[in-house]
Amino acid sequence: MHPTKSTRTQVAIVGAGPAGLFLSHLLHRQGIESVILEHRSREEIEGTIRAGVLEQWVVDLMNDMGLGDRMMREAHFHSGITLRFDRRSHHIDMAELTGGKRVTVYAQHEVIRDLVSARLEDGGTILFGVSDVQFHDLEGKTPHVQFRRGADGPLEELRCDFVAGCDGFHGPSRQAIPAATRTEYQMVYPFGWLGILTEAPPSHPELIYANHERGFALLSTRSPEVQRLYIQVDPKDDIANWSDDRIWSELHRRLEDDSGWTLTEGSIFQKGIIAMRSFVCDPMRHGRLFIAGDAAHIVPPTGAKGLNLAVADVAVLSRALAAYYKSGTTEGLDGYSATCLRRIWKAERFSWSMTTMLHRNEAESPFEQRVHLAELDYLVHSRAAMTALAENYVGLPME
Ligand code: FAD
Ligand code: DHB
Repeated sequence: MHPTKSTRTQVAIVGAGPAGLFLSHLLHRQGIESVILEHRSREEIEGTIRAGVLEQWVVDLMNDMGLGDRMMREAHFHSGITLRFDRRSHHIDMAELTGGKRVTVYAQHEVIRDLVSARLEDGGTILFGVSDVQFHDLEGKTPHVQFRRGADGPLEELRCDFVAGCDGFHGPSRQAIPAATRTEYQMVYPFGWLGILTEAPPSHPELIYANHERGFALLSTRSPEVQRLYIQVDPKDDIANWSDDRIWSELHRRLEDDSGWTLTEGSIFQKGIIAMRSFVCDPMRHGRLFIAGDAAHIVPPTGAKGLNLAVADVAVLSRALAAYYKSGTTEGLDGYSATCLRRIWKAERFSWSMTTMLHRNEAESPFEQRVHLAELDYLVHSRAAMTALAENYVGLPME
């Protein structure tokens, strides 16, 4: 079928998650035009509850781009995290171990709100609610993306120089890389996270990651009035099996230590279960298509890396595109996949190691379970080990 309308931009971006939105801002700063095609509505993307922790360089980037005002007012800046196991608490002072890099808690949907409103104010184009996105001529000279506005608008065509696939794990862009030319690495974990939002004051000044024989638990925050907490559950469990009382009872048991500290309860106004996997697609390019963020890789959330990794990919991509438009060089574009994958594999390793160290895996032998406790014990008593954790948690340097 022939499209009824044809428009043109330099970079067609599919997906208005962190990857797509950061990319459109970074390109705009370099004078490069883009159009974002987003399947969901603005309200939906601004209301989806996901990640919470920003690496220091992402905070710095938001500020450099002039997008950090609300974050600097409303985010929580912690010097470190608390690791809890064997009913004892251990503070890891990330800032002290990394020369001042802090843990910033600022919810993903707040980042999305800030980036969407600034992009629209700048005159940028984000088309929400598009459907039927299809890629054409990715290997040729006239790449274009076809789509419809709304569920059944007429077919339109967006011609471009490059396509950025920032459409998350379930989006179509990764599938546009021929199966024969891509390798997918995957590991699915036998646990998931049940996450809640509760109306309560903070119970603790910083995040608590707890290893407990009943399973992992995590205490995080969102605001002086709203707290975010997670517990390890069976990924196939039904949220209907989890009454508020049962959730609080597990949180108390898993989070409490011998210091007399207690968890403050509140009303639970949001709850859900997510499964956990590690996934990497190599390469992240096919012709003029470049995939970024969750479209190319997934980490289990324990290391708080998902959002940060998405931003890292598009930082590399925007640099490569800027060099191409400035001088015609394709060196950055040709190296895109390899450059990103070096950081991605380090984040995969870190997220996998935090996940296996902190969760209870019933399929593991008692020997393996004791090894995780020994690892934690070593970690909190070795400055070298704590420094390694801190460097990874606050974000490895960008290449
Ligand atoms: P996404 O945020 O997934 O954005 C992709 C966008 O593309 C979406 O808006 C989607 O609507 C759009 N899209 C998809 N298909 C199409 C299409 N066909 N056409 C047009 N648009 C399309 N990470 C953490 O570090 N900590 C956490 O606690 C955490 N919790 C999470 C909870 C859930 C339920 C999920 C799914 C992820 C979570 N993550 C977490 C991971 C983190 O949120 C992601 O790594 C991050 O959102 C990746 O950003 P992205 O831009 O690559 O993809
Ligand atoms: C949050 C999520 C994470 O995955 C994490 O490791 C720490 C905090 C959060 O949602 O606040």
